[in-house]
Amino acid sequence: MMFPAIPLFPAAPDAQRWRRPFPGTPDQAAAVRRFTTMLLSGCPVLDDILLTVDELVVNALRHTRSGRPGGIFTVELAHWEGAVAVAVTDEGASSEPAVTDAADDVESGRGLRTVSLLAAGWGWFGNDRSRTVAALFAATAEPLCEAA
Ligand SMILES: Nc1ncnc2c1ncn2[C@@H]1O[C@H](COP(=O)(O)OP(=O)(O)O)[C@@H](O)[C@H]1O
Ligand SMILES: [Mg+2]
Repeated sequence: MMFPAIPLFPAAPDAQRWRRPFPGTPDQAAAVRRFTTMLLSGCPVLDDILLTVDELVVNALRHTRSGRPGGIFTVELAHWEGAVAVAVTDEGASSEPAVTDAADDVESGRGLRTVSLLAAGWGWFGNDRSRTVAALFAATAEPLCEAA
């Protein structure tokens, strides 16, 4: 099994970080939700984070090599004062993540639009061999989530 190289995504140096690889099968979306809920329980924006991670995982499964037999993807969470970052690293595709115009196609193109509306920011890096799509949930004066 090839594990994609996991580049670091932006987070404070003292952030708590977790990373876990998952097999690239559809049932793993639920496993990712459990993983995320366990680590970020008590976080007031947990629902938004869960929706976002779900969209990123479904994209990794549907649009990249991670969803092929033997494929994997990796989920990373980082939590520091006032912020949570989530990232999903896949095994690459010829397409690039992009918010598409929902009016073009009512059946698709909503996932990253939803992410862009829920998160303070989102973006991706990588290439057709592996991409990391990350979203940031921001920064409040108070700690965003209780320490996990
Ligand atoms: N991880 C990814 N790697 C490569 N392309 C992606 C990835 N995620 C999304 N895309 C591309 O961006 C498009 C928009 O994604 P999204 O808004 O989630 O809509 P949908 O998944 O319904 O097509 C996808 O159709 C796909 O072409
Ligand atoms: Mg999608």
